[in-house]
Amino acid sequence: MTVIAIDGPAAAGKGTLARRVAAELGFDYLDTGLIYRAVGMKVWNAGFEPSDPARAGEAARDLEPEDLTADDLRGDEAAQAASKVAAIPEVRDQLLEFQRRFAAQPPGGKGAVLDGRDIGTVVCPEAAIKLYVTASAETRARRRLLELQGKGVETSFDTVLAEMRERDERDSQRAVAPLKPAEDAHQLDTSDLDAAAAFDAAIAFIRAKL
Ligand code: C5P
Repeated sequence: MTVIAIDGPAAAGKGTLARRVAAELGFDYLDTGLIYRAVGMKVWNAGFEPSDPARAGEAARDLEPEDLTADDLRGDEAAQAASKVAAIPEVRDQLLEFQRRFAAQPPGGKGAVLDGRDIGTVVCPEAAIKLYVTASAETRARRRLLELQGKGVETSFDTVLAEMRERDERDSQRAVAPLKPAEDAHQLDTSDLDAAAAFDAAIAFIRAKL
């Protein structure tokens, strides 16, 4: 099965890119961040701390497909809760099998695009194609601010930048599956690229490898 692994920090443009690549190639797409967000919000909504290993482990074990459709998963509260549960080894273990099964047997049967933080390093180290998508923290914060303002959320650039740095730090310093490029990943810096230009660069690289 052809697997395309797309990793990188928050708001680097991975999600948009991964979705477009999957649509272009007729592959299935899995947003693995959404799984961690669902586990984090399950714990939080039950009134517990997402960093509590026992509660988070239980939530990961009992995760149901409908948990992934909750409407509070896109916000910053879910993002912070996700990065807390994501640092707990038992949570990562529980979610590994689901992600690997999707990569090996995507529903459409043609291929799979997974995006996240550890797809190329841990979930699918054998993926044929690996992209590591980055952008400066300021660029990513500016994009996230526009997205939040578009949703009517009142916040400031400094708040968004601080939250983004906090999450980058937690994701890249954790002991298990830290955010880092796989040795064989192709790095794509989108700081000076819009979504269309990032897609063009990515698809050219992918087609050359398929
Ligand atoms: O990509 P997204 O911002 O939705 O991810 C939310 C959080 O989930 C990340 O900050 C990270 O802590 C965690 N995550 C992870 N491994 C993945 C995908 C997401 O640890 N493969």
